[in-house]
Amino acid sequence: MSRAPHDAGEAPAAAEPALAIDWAALDRAALAVRERAHAPYSGYWVGAAILVRSGRVFAGCNVENASYGLTICAERSAIVQMVAAGERDPVAITVATSGPVLGSPCGMCRQTLAEFAVDLPIRLIAAGGGAPPRHTSLSALLPEAFGAAALSR
Ligand code: THU
Repeated sequence: MSRAPHDAGEAPAAAEPALAIDWAALDRAALAVRERAHAPYSGYWVGAAILVRSGRVFAGCNVENASYGLTICAERSAIVQMVAAGERDPVAITVATSGPVLGSPCGMCRQTLAEFAVDLPIRLIAAGGGAPPRHTSLSALLPEAFGAAALSR
């Protein structure tokens, strides 16, 4: 049976070497920042940790408000930290949610992540144990994302 070139175990040509993703370190950062969540209304604590191309990690938690609609999710909180630090090139994210059931980034967070990486590898972990971690990607969760290209005039 013939095999396609990409089945032969060859690494694709890349402009720069791929950064190894230390998922265990990202999980630790997401779980640690989750402890700082401000979620008195939902009781649902979330932490997110983003690895960027330079190797730095940015973490964010959800911050709720008595005016419920002002809540910011953990993923957007982490993105804000990343941009404020002058970084714009995320390569992976872990999201740690409450309880034994895996969560998944909300639509608003998916769109916010897509601003900086349309095919970001995503790892979902349940802080309460139970469900095993799940790996997915932003392109799977948000295909055909709206992006800057659509705004070209
Ligand atoms: N939340 C996140 O921080 N990230 C998600 O991916 C889903 C939801 C937060 C928002 C709110 O504070 C709480 O979880 C319940 O929706």
